Parts: sequence; C-alpha cells; structure tokens
Amino acid sequence: MSDSTDTSPSHLVNDRYLRALSKQPVDMTPVWMMRQAGRYLPEYKATRAQAGDFMSLCRNAELACEVTLQPLRRFELDAAILFSDILTIPDAMGLGLYFEAGEGPKFKHPLTNQREIEKLGIPDPEGELQYVMNAVRTIRKELKGEVPLIGFSGSPWTLATYMIEGGSSKAFTKIKKMAFADPQALHLLLDKLADAVIAYLNAQIAAGAQSVMVFDTWGGVLSPRDYNLFSLQYMAKIVDGLTRHNDGRKVPVTLFTKNGGMWLESIADTGCDAVGLDWTINIDEARARIGDKVALQGNMDPSMLYASPDRIEEEVTTILKKYGTGSGHVFNLGHGIHLDVPPENAGVFIDAVHRLSKPYHNGQ
Ligand code: CP3
Repeated sequence: MSDSTDTSPSHLVNDRYLRALSKQPVDMTPVWMMRQAGRYLPEYKATRAQAGDFMSLCRNAELACEVTLQPLRRFELDAAILFSDILTIPDAMGLGLYFEAGEGPKFKHPLTNQREIEKLGIPDPEGELQYVMNAVRTIRKELKGEVPLIGFSGSPWTLATYMIEGGSSKAFTKIKKMAFADPQALHLLLDKLADAVIAYLNAQIAAGAQSVMVFDTWGGVLSPRDYNLFSLQYMAKIVDGLTRHNDGRKVPVTLFTKNGGMWLESIADTGCDAVGLDWTINIDEARARIGDKVALQGNMDPSMLYASPDRIEEEVTTILKKYGTGSGHVFNLGHGIHLDVPPENAGVFIDAVHRLSKPYHNGQ
C-alpha cells in the first residue's frame, strides 16, 4: 500500500485498482462497475433532471462531477469513472448527437460515403471537447486522492457503427456494407477515429485521468479476420499512441471487446495492460491464456444483480475461486449495470468482492 503520510498531489488513499492493473500485491480484489453512475440511482435521475437532458449533464463540469461521485458515496468502490459518453467524439466531428426518449443515441448527419468522411476533422480535445477535460479536472479535484479516476473512449469500430448506422443497431448492415463494398472509405474513417481517440485520451490523461479504458462494445459482431482488420488494428494503434506514464506513475490501459473471448491472445498482444472480459468466458480460462501478460477485468453477468444477496455472493465466490490467488484481477460486471437493478444489490456485490477476496491475497 502507499505511504499514508504522503501529501503529494498524486498520492492516492486507495490505489488498489492501479496496483491490481500492474499485478502488484493488494489486500483485497478491487472492484468498480461499468456504468456505475446512471439511472439505477435515484440521485442520478434527480441531477439529470436538474441539468435538463443527458448531454447538458455531460457538458456541465460541476454536475458531471456530482454524478461521478454519487456511486462512491453509496458504495466502497475502488475507482471512479469519468461521467461522459463515448459519442462525444462523433458529436464534436459535427454529426449532431441527440437522444430520443427510449431509443438511445441518434445522429442527425450519419455518414454515408467517402466524401463525407474526407471532410471530417480531428476534434481538438481542449476546443470542442474541452467540456470533457473540464469534467476530468473538476472530478480529480473533488476526489481529493481517495480513489483513481478512469478516463475512457469508444473504440474506432464501435464509434463508427453509431456514425454510419445513425444510432444503435442490431444487424449492423450499413457499416458492414461499407466494410465489404467500400473498405477504403471505412479504413479512412477508422484511422481518423484512432487519431481522434489518441488525442482525446492523452488530453484526459493530461487533465488527470489515472487510467484509461477503451470500450469496443461492438467488435464481437465481426468475423475473426474482420475483427483484426476493422477493430483490433485500430485499438493497437491507440495503445501505441497513448501516454503510458504521467505524474510519476504508470497509466494503465484496458481494452474491452464485448464478446471478444475468442480473441484474448491478440487483444493482449496489443501491449495493453489489462483486458476486460464479459461473462461469456470463464476467467480461469482467460487467466491461463493471457494472465502472464496482462491483468483481467470482469466478469459477472450484470443480470446477476437481480438475484438474491445469497446468490450474488455465491457468484462472486465462484469468480474469485476461478481467478485464484494473487493480484492482477479487477472485479467488474461483464457489461454495464442494468437501469432497473436495486442499488442495494450493487452494494451486496461490492461488499462481497472485498470481504470474500481477502483469503486470495494472504501473504501477498
Ligand atoms: O460507466 C460510467 O458510469 C461512465 C459513464 C458512461 C456512459 N456511457 C454514460 C451514459 C460510459 C462509460 C458510457 C459508454 C458508452 N456509451 C458505451 C460503451 C459501453 C457500453 O455500455 O457498451 C456505449 C455503446 C455508449 C453509447 C450510449 N450512450 C448508449 C447506447 C446510450 C443509451 C443507453 C440507454 O440505456 O438508453 C447512451 C446514453 C448514456 N450514456 C446514459 C448514461 C448514464 C443514459 C443516458 C440517460 O441518462 O438517459
């Protein structure tokens, strides 16, 4: 553990999350939840109502900070995650993001051809996206070194799905049509997005993010060859372009491809520090395959939070036992928390991870 008398600005009271990502010894397994700030919390809904709508909440540094901290006031979480969205980059590129009630995100100007892609600029993180950096700076200040702050971005492929489909999709026909009928246009877009993500994440790091995560929510809808070609290649470019040390400390990078269990070795080969797992793969298998190279994050099915406290604890026990002894595991859900989960169940989950993981770190 770090020295509790340290008063430097980069000192952390609880650095379990960063230590686990570097496989340094920890007293218990750190835990946070994807989408830990959100609509399952009544206090989030109240602050969003105060902001007016979701994007106004993201654009207001004080309110974005408030909702970032809300889950930390309720639960003993080992990390905070910036409150924002992956679609800030396409919005800053001029696509006109808006949210239709009950339908998720939409773009006013989806991309249809190479000409439109050629016209796109790389957003200036301290220009059009300065509101995100302001949120990072405000959150870091308000966290007062309690726990580390995670910055994030979408992967180029995942961002491109929304930019070409015009919103959420099930079959991804428009982007796949471009991938197979006009691959040059799609590669141009993915390359620009990789450059935009590098600038955006490095600016988040400069503003105070102590770790970053890339969400590749839709990489798993591709064939193995096309996953490498259209998604992983661009995430590897991002890993290469990121600031990996800041403020005297390593800035770990986590890559998360939902449904990417088949491709763990190639994901770990990008040089990232950690790989996020969804619940469709066993964590013991993942550790055997890539645990010598990277740390692992995951991987309880988020729907398990609908279960009884006993059932939740049983599932936490199973996953801890599967991972086994030693550091290198950040406990999380395999995807975002559902909006109708009772907050008390999230509390049961987080407390169970801490309490039940101690024996796995004895003598560390
Ligand atoms: O994890 C966190 O607490 C940080 C905040 C965060 C949000 N979105 C807030 C949000 C993060 C990390 C994201 C990432 C994100 N956004 C992803 C990748 C992760 C994943 O879940 O797969 C994706 C694909 C998006 C795009 C997006 N933004 C969608 C599909 C939606 C609609 C979701 C829904 O259930 O309606 C959003 C909006 C959004 N982003 C909300 C939140 C809390 C809900 C907005 C609201 O308050 O109505």
